[in-house]
Amino acid sequence: MSILKIEGLSKNFYLHHVEREIKSCTDINFTLEQGEFIGIVGLSGAGKSTIMKCINRSYLPMEGSILYNSKAFGEIDLCKASEREMLYLRKYEIGYVSQFLNVMPRTTAKEHVMNALLDMGENEKIAEEKAIVMLSYFKLPERLWDIYPNTFSGGERLRLNLAHTMVKKPRLMLLDEPTASLDNKTKILVKEMLQKLKSKDTGMLGIFHDLEFMEGVCDKVFNISEGEFLC
Ligand SMILES: Nc1ncnc2c1ncn2[C@@H]1O[C@H](COP(=O)(O)OP(=O)(O)OP(=O)(O)O)[C@@H](O)[C@H]1O
Ligand SMILES: [Mg+2]
Repeated sequence: MSILKIEGLSKNFYLHHVEREIKSCTDINFTLEQGEFIGIVGLSGAGKSTIMKCINRSYLPMEGSILYNSKAFGEIDLCKASEREMLYLRKYEIGYVSQFLNVMPRTTAKEHVMNALLDMGENEKIAEEKAIVMLSYFKLPERLWDIYPNTFSGGERLRLNLAHTMVKKPRLMLLDEPTASLDNKTKILVKEMLQKLKSKDTGMLGIFHDLEFMEGVCDKVFNISEGEFLC
């Protein structure tokens, strides 16, 4: 069963100060099945991150539709969903690992991961236990758990981002270069976690710098510059 169907998705930006239109992604079409992993490749600036931001609705798409098969709402067009529906979906169903860490001020690393579960209605004790399991899994040193992450290194931020998103076990996972600043050992941990989620029917879209590393997880590769699948 397909979990996501993107049809004719386009997004441009109009920069008023220079009175110029910037093309970001144009006429994107593909379908993601449940438990499937699609890797997205393409030149820098081709619009890979923009697709993910449109699905997560950090960007409002201009044209086309993003049909998501939601557990709560059934089929829903994410281009037209209300803010309230998007908030619900981001909380319970759609996980987005961006290249950048976005943490509420005065929130420690452990609290950040716990918050993902508390938002879903999990009780404090279980949220803490699950957060610790996830932080340990991604080998974020214990001495950093009660620290505000604004001083974290790139790799530490990324691992915290991954723990925060994966602890929720979302139905649809969007991964924007989640292994970019990680060493090989940690990359393998990420890969194994993705394999685990995949076997539980999570649909995944991933942008990877080193896509060959994802062999065995990635089912298809979509080339955004050509607008078609490579394999
Ligand atoms: N908020 C924005 N305002 C204006 N232009 C934007 C905005 N976001 C993206 N763009 C432009 O859209 C184009 C696509 O950007 P995007 O970040 O999707 O590329 P990408 O394929 O992810 O590139 P990279 O591989 O370098 O991460 C770029 O030219 C970028 O400058
Ligand atoms: Mg990008």
